[in-house]
Amino acid sequence: MKLAPSILSADFANLERDIQLVEKLGADYIHVDVMDGQFVPNITLGPNVVSAIRPVTKLPLDVHLMIVQPENYIEAFAKAGADIITVHQESTPHIHRAIQMIKASGVKAGVVINPGTPLSAIEYVLNLVDQVLIMTVNPGFGGQTFIESSLDKIAQLNEWKETKGYTYDIEVDGGIEPNTAKRCKEAGANVFVAGSYIYNSESPKERIAALRAVLD
Ligand code: DX5
Ligand code: ZN
Repeated sequence: MKLAPSILSADFANLERDIQLVEKLGADYIHVDVMDGQFVPNITLGPNVVSAIRPVTKLPLDVHLMIVQPENYIEAFAKAGADIITVHQESTPHIHRAIQMIKASGVKAGVVINPGTPLSAIEYVLNLVDQVLIMTVNPGFGGQTFIESSLDKIAQLNEWKETKGYTYDIEVDGGIEPNTAKRCKEAGANVFVAGSYIYNSESPKERIAALRAVLD
């Protein structure tokens, strides 16, 4: 089970400190939320911030693109030091091509769907990807409530891994705390993004321990 703290809820004036804190506490990935104010109603950061944080951690950078025309930025994020780039099916009419581009840039490829999007929308790229991200909130902001219907999608994706021999990781993102993490794990998820639960706390150490207690 992998834990991927989301720096969306970190202190942007102290990203180095907040990234190294979770690395020291045993995080597996650093989850980087890229928002453009068009695909989602919030703006965060671009490739320059990814290059800036690349040297401060050894952990893989798990870059979640919530931007329109993601094809235009894949190379820039790969060059900036992303290890995994995940694109929304809803953000492009050519999700298959976008995934091919990610793979051609030499990094791991992920595909992600919003809570309102059915799994069938990504059925024909599941053989290509290293990771499938199931949004468990509507993307755009930290601190939202987990959407229950995501659990069915996780279970179905997990069943397909077994019956069709797919090898993708199943990642969940949004409203993850010990209770929801446990339920996602039981449904078949193995990568857990958590932002506000870890960072909006006096003790990220205790929060990470509480997540590990249900995951390991
Ligand atoms: C939401 C982002 C998430 C966000 C999760 O659009 O994709 O990664 O940081 O935040 P929490 O864990 O607070 O729901
Ligand atoms: Zn995210």
